[in-house]
Amino acid sequence: MDLADKILKLKKEKKAIILAHNYQRSEIQELADYVGDSIELSRKAIEEIDAEMIVFCAVDFMAESAAILNPKKKVLLPCLGARCPMAQMLTVDEIHRAKAKYPGAPVVLYVNTLASCKAECDICCTSANVVEVIDSLDSDTILFGPDKNLAEYVSEKTGKKLIPIPENGFCPTHLLFQPEDVKVLKMQHQDANVMVHPECSREMRQVADFIGSTSKMCRFAKESRAQDFVVGTEEGILNRLRKENPSKNFYLAYEGAICPNMKLTTLDRLYASLKEEKNVVKVPESIAKKARVSLERMFNVKS
Ligand code: 13P
Ligand code: SF4
Repeated sequence: MDLADKILKLKKEKKAIILAHNYQRSEIQELADYVGDSIELSRKAIEEIDAEMIVFCAVDFMAESAAILNPKKKVLLPCLGARCPMAQMLTVDEIHRAKAKYPGAPVVLYVNTLASCKAECDICCTSANVVEVIDSLDSDTILFGPDKNLAEYVSEKTGKKLIPIPENGFCPTHLLFQPEDVKVLKMQHQDANVMVHPECSREMRQVADFIGSTSKMCRFAKESRAQDFVVGTEEGILNRLRKENPSKNFYLAYEGAICPNMKLTTLDRLYASLKEEKNVVKVPESIAKKARVSLERMFNVKS
C-alpha cells in the first residue's frame, strides 16, 4: 500500500476530514476531501459536523480559524512550522497603538493574522469578501491589517480611507511578481487573460484582467472564453486550474512564486500527524471567544 492509500485508510478509520488550501502540493490536493480558498475552507470546517477530526493542510492561521470556529473538534496541522510570515507581521501592541491614534475607527483584519490579533478587531475578512466587509461598515476611515497591498486595493474599490497596520505588511511570495514578467508572457500569448491575487503590488494589479481570491480565480478561468491565462499567485493553484480546465493553458507569471510554508505539508507529515493525532491546534478560549465574534461577523456579511 502506498502512502496516499495508507492516509486514505487511516482517514476513514478515524472519521477524519482532510481540507487543503489551493497552494498545497498537488499530491496533498489529490487526496483531500476539499480544496479551496481560505473562506471556503473555514466554511467547510464548520459544516463538517460528522467528522471527528479535521486535518488542515495549509498554514497556521487557517487551522487556527478552524479551531476557533469548532472548539470541540480536534484540528491537526500536519506541520506546526507552517506559519504565514505575513500573519506574523502584526502584533496586538501595534493594534492597540493604532486604536489609540485613531479612536473610533473600526479595525478590520485579514484572516492572515494570529488569533490573538483577531480577538482585538471588529471584523475579519478574506480576499474573497474584503470589498463587501469594508462596504458593510458605516465609517469611511478604517484601520486595516496586515496586508498593505490588500488595503490599497480595497481603498481603490470602495473609495474609503484604509490606514494600514502595520505600516508595511506584505506577502513575500506575492511581492515576487513583476509586471515585466507578465509583459514577456503576454508577448508569447497575446490573448491571454492575466489573473492576479490582491496581495500583489499595485503595478501587478494594473496589468490584471481579473483580481480575486484563489478560488475566485478558478471560477474566472472556468467562465472565461480565453484559452490562455497568466497566473499571478502561488504555483500550487496551477494543479487545480489545469485539472478543472484541461483544454486551457496556464502560465505562472513568475516561476519562483512558491510559498515555502504552504509546501511544508508533505504526505509523510500528513500521515504522521493523522496516525499519532499530533500537532493539535489549540487556541485558548479567552482569545478564541473574542476572535470567534470577529469571524462570525464576517460570515454574516453577504458576499
Ligand atoms: P485565498 O483566501 O485567496 O486563498 O488566499 C490566502 C492566502 O494566503 C493568499 O496568499
Ligand atoms: Fe502567507 Fe503569502 Fe504564503 Fe499566503 S502565500 S500563506 S499570505 S506567505
